[in-house]
Amino acid sequence: MLDTRISRRAALMGAGAAAAWLASPARALLQAAGRMEVPGFVNDLVGRMTLEEKAGQLSLMASAWGGGAAAALNPPSDSNFPKQLEETRQGQLTGVFNGNGARMARIMQTAAVKESRLKIPLIFAADIIHGHRTIFPVPLAEVSSFEPELARRTAEVAAFEAAGAGIDWNFAPMCDVARDQRWGRGVEGGGEDPLLGSLFAAARVHGFQGSDFKSNEHFLACVKHFAAYGAAEAGLDYNTVDISERTLREVYLRPYKAGFDAGALSAMASFNEISGIPATGNHWLLTDLLRGEWGFQGFVVSDYTGDEEMIKHGYAKDGRDAARIAFLAGVDMSMQSGLYRMYLPDLVRSGEVPEATLNTSVRRVLAAKHMLGLFEDPFRRIDEKREKSRSMLPRSRAVARESGRKSIVLLKNEGDLLPLPRSGKKIALIGPFASGQHDLVGPWVVYGSDANAVSLETGVRAAVADKNSIIAVEGSKVEQAIPGGIDQAVAAAQAADIVVLAIGESQGMSGEAQSRADIVLPKPQQDLAEAVAKTGKPIVVVLKHGRALALEGAVKDAPAILATWFLGTETGNSIADVLFGAYSPSGRLPASFPHLSGQQPYFYAHKTTGRPNPDPKLDDYKARFRGITNTALYPFGHGLTYGKIAYSDFAISGPSLPMTGEISVSARVTNSGKRAAEEVVQLYIHDRVGSVTRPVRELKAFRKVKLEPGQSEVVRFTLKRDDLLFYGVANTPTVEPGTFDVWIAPSAEAEGVHGTFELTA
Ligand code: NOJ
Repeated sequence: MLDTRISRRAALMGAGAAAAWLASPARALLQAAGRMEVPGFVNDLVGRMTLEEKAGQLSLMASAWGGGAAAALNPPSDSNFPKQLEETRQGQLTGVFNGNGARMARIMQTAAVKESRLKIPLIFAADIIHGHRTIFPVPLAEVSSFEPELARRTAEVAAFEAAGAGIDWNFAPMCDVARDQRWGRGVEGGGEDPLLGSLFAAARVHGFQGSDFKSNEHFLACVKHFAAYGAAEAGLDYNTVDISERTLREVYLRPYKAGFDAGALSAMASFNEISGIPATGNHWLLTDLLRGEWGFQGFVVSDYTGDEEMIKHGYAKDGRDAARIAFLAGVDMSMQSGLYRMYLPDLVRSGEVPEATLNTSVRRVLAAKHMLGLFEDPFRRIDEKREKSRSMLPRSRAVARESGRKSIVLLKNEGDLLPLPRSGKKIALIGPFASGQHDLVGPWVVYGSDANAVSLETGVRAAVADKNSIIAVEGSKVEQAIPGGIDQAVAAAQAADIVVLAIGESQGMSGEAQSRADIVLPKPQQDLAEAVAKTGKPIVVVLKHGRALALEGAVKDAPAILATWFLGTETGNSIADVLFGAYSPSGRLPASFPHLSGQQPYFYAHKTTGRPNPDPKLDDYKARFRGITNTALYPFGHGLTYGKIAYSDFAISGPSLPMTGEISVSARVTNSGKRAAEEVVQLYIHDRVGSVTRPVRELKAFRKVKLEPGQSEVVRFTLKRDDLLFYGVANTPTVEPGTFDVWIAPSAEAEGVHGTFELTA
């Protein structure tokens, strides 16, 4: 399958430390963890359970603890805690999610193991998307590091904190490929490319789960949202997905598969339909493919009321029908609707659902609880003291600062405006994100807080020699003008030598249900930028955003632009590290910045069409929009450093690659600048003629290399037949002899160095 090839390829071609990890003995352990052991006592237990108790083990609810995180995040959820405790005693609940910490977990777990008939422990779940208390960059930002090992490390710290606070099961990683920047949830995922997304999915699973499921420093990962949630039409959240099986397999399914191959033992069904069948009721997806073809042994949970939503989809006639369809399709556990505990017992009694199938699902869930060590010690992750003592340790914050600065992408740096001097210049920090502890952690954080995060102003003041050299002015709210705000900002710019313009999206503008029809800066901020630009002062734009944006006017034309996303707890320090040169930026875009919103969905690995129109020539009757070619302003893989990088000396080991052989391609990468740099060297291919048309380019490998000033290195990659596979006419992995282009380049649309080879039979 394509995905095992990704692992092998990554290991061979050195896609960084993640590749080494994928090939390591520790990974072998994790693969063993991908197997679900069902111990004998689980079978005995299932034999003693009533139908109601079985359905209870398959019913997960938002925590009802007063003021609990879940109630706040998912408003219609119940906040009657005594009722939830009673359901626990009655064996009507398998666990809760997004509850509030170890104290709550202790009360509930005590009710489960002391007061319920069968004493089955609860499982505590949560959305620990990019950190528990110490918040790391949003996942999309972190993917910009092109360093999967970094994601493994941040996931490990997240698990350490969260598992210390009573959480057994994490609703992450989110593995949805997102190729339409209007979609708000791209911020939670791995970007537009399936290889990059797969490496990060696997790394995150490794970090969350570790190599010992019973460890109280790790928890169970959940690969979500299965499947193709990110392919929603028009980028509208929850919308229909209508997709060919080939694209599904070649693009969208790969990161999920990588997550399962890394050992994830749970999956979450997605809200969307796929070509007419809701994922939650999709037997082909959840059973034939996931279990049959891929051999997944864990359990599947619905998304929040996903089963019930099949009624609105027009796929189920009522709640009973929805429960039956979801369960028979392969959803083992229902989240939040309560439909399973309401209807499964009766569906079994009526013969519509075989009891053996029910038993299988219950066994999976109990086996997962067993693997997590909950039967041995139901309180193993519940400890109020540990919850506090593990929270936000200096070493965790150090990882947050490192991951923050590695997530920043330098889009533009005319005249080497960056890095800024630490002394001798007055700097005006202007914009809604210049100061204040807001919009720092990102849109999807349950337990962390902006209040514990470092603002831009704080980070900048700590980095400069003279605190009085900084003046901070808001200028505009995110989506609203401030009366007199622009005048104040212009005055501040005039009094300064350099402007740092901190503008972009608030954290509420991306995330679940936050799709945008137009991915530009809100008008009041654009107006602010235009006015400040008129002062003629050099401007460094520091963008805050949960997606790739369409930059316009003075923002696009600013001499320096940094894409900084939402960086979490250490935001201000991480940005200051890059602004003042303590760190030379090494991030690369995981999602293309288009010229205009209307190009969406724009992604680099598109097809050529019969009438391509490469930039910059605009021809009639060609695939272009009026006035612009269909290229990116800043493509996938783009990012500058403080060095001066050049690619030369393309070399290939031979003109042809036999089916059973390998070919080596290399380029010399030189830093002729005055500062050290980390360059992400990328390998792309294009299959010129196929029985199925192929994308203009596909990323096949990358390597991050550190180059001192004046240093040059030959970077070598190896390609094998398996790297050239695609899903052919019959939707099966196919490889065809013929000519391939190969590029070693600094981005998906940069020429870099280029050559060709023949794949021979
Ligand atoms: C709905 C979201 O789609 C999913 O990602 C999340 O895990 C659940 N809510 C639970 O919070």
